[in-house]
Amino acid sequence: MAEEAILGYLENNELISDSGKFAAERGLDHNDVVNVIKSLHGFRYVDAQDIKRETWVLTDEGKKYAAEGSPEVQLFLAVPAEGSISKDELQKKLDPSVFKIGCSQAGKNKWVEMGKQVSRKVQNVEDKVKDLLLHVQNGHALEKDGISTLKARKLIVPQTWKGYSVSKGPNYAPKRKKVATDLTRENLQRGDWKELEFKDYNFNAKGQPAEGGHLHPLLKVRKQLKDIFLQMGFEEMPTNNFVESSFWNFDALFQPQQHPARDSHDTFFLEEPSTTRELPEDYVERVKSVHESGGYGSRGYGYDWKREEANKNLLRTHTTAVSSRMLKALAEKPFAPKKYFSIDRVFRNEAVDRTHLAEFHQIEGLVCDRGLTLGDLIGVLHDFFSRLGMSKLRFKPAYNPYTEPSMEIFSYHEGLGKWVEIGNSGMFRPEMLLPMGLPEDVRVIAWGLSLERPTMILYGIDNIRDLFGHKVDLGLIKRNPICRIGI
Ligand code: PHE
Repeated sequence: MAEEAILGYLENNELISDSGKFAAERGLDHNDVVNVIKSLHGFRYVDAQDIKRETWVLTDEGKKYAAEGSPEVQLFLAVPAEGSISKDELQKKLDPSVFKIGCSQAGKNKWVEMGKQVSRKVQNVEDKVKDLLLHVQNGHALEKDGISTLKARKLIVPQTWKGYSVSKGPNYAPKRKKVATDLTRENLQRGDWKELEFKDYNFNAKGQPAEGGHLHPLLKVRKQLKDIFLQMGFEEMPTNNFVESSFWNFDALFQPQQHPARDSHDTFFLEEPSTTRELPEDYVERVKSVHESGGYGSRGYGYDWKREEANKNLLRTHTTAVSSRMLKALAEKPFAPKKYFSIDRVFRNEAVDRTHLAEFHQIEGLVCDRGLTLGDLIGVLHDFFSRLGMSKLRFKPAYNPYTEPSMEIFSYHEGLGKWVEIGNSGMFRPEMLLPMGLPEDVRVIAWGLSLERPTMILYGIDNIRDLFGHKVDLGLIKRNPICRIGI
């Protein structure tokens, strides 16, 4: 509509001098006209010159009086034509602001006699203010006096009106040509591509905001931990086998076969393939015998060790299964000290709640060298955790079948204002290390913790299901900063 009007008008006329007038005369919306002018200008159908005018618009108060009458007239009309009304009575009839302004203006105009009683001094009044306001509202210009009255009473404010004057541009045509945006197969087949005019690419157009590519908080904390281990000179262990035999997950760790953790209530056993194909036979013999009757200074557990139990495949319940394989491999070569770490997934048949999942990630670190002591373990833990920003540590005696002594690790959490358990640690037992064939004076200090725990603390997440699993809160992952400054 607006486009036809503008191009049509310019066919026979030189100039549209004022887009505002042009729109008003034709009953067009000025905003539509402006948009069309901008678009036609972009394609150089028209030339356009800005015009600006200072105009006045009504404030909210001005709009109210334009509709309801000025306060002084409202007040005047509330005073009876004959006799008088008490000031209190009058006040009750009017809006508080109308009463206040009305009193002062009607008094100034000498329309009413103000005292305890209020009475009219004139018979009729004209609502000049309302008339002026309606005038402005209808887009008409005002005399200077009128403007200063309304401005002083804050009933109008200035506004810059923007429009255009428009003339023919270099590409002027009475009708806009359709430009092609795409070259189609049909264009090629028909050969009309030769005549087609193509729309230019707009290289300044803003693209869609890039979505995706968010790092999961677990990945970010894992990277941070991995860097810490590498800085401390640790090597990463291969953790790419989720399926493990009970032998490496439990037996090699001197965990007795009737231990409750080996129950299907706690561990996921595999149905297919349900058993492992091979185990190192001579080592199996030594493990069997240390469980049954001990050795290396130990009495063993004194039970009938069953090979079938050791053969059962499971989803590894801890990455200590990986540590046991690595230590066994180490024992096969001339001894050299090692520092190993891993961060990967483990599985437990747990009831899922806000702090537990059936699969989670475990961080595992171990140092293997001659003559290590519990003091070394405590020192390494202080070094490791202080690099994570946890420098206040406490230890509590604990029990693991494969470590002696064992210690739970607690850290003081400044934010929560309390000690929180962050991991488990210990020195691997001789019953585990000596059957592997490690030299007698070799000690292994080790610790483990979940990756989820520090991540939840660092990111202030209180439900593990928001972090990991099928109910994960994608919004939370997107909102997370790319990096955190400090801990
Ligand atoms: N494997 C232990 C766990 O599952 C962690 C641990 C690792 C404890 C090494 C002591 C030594 O919690």
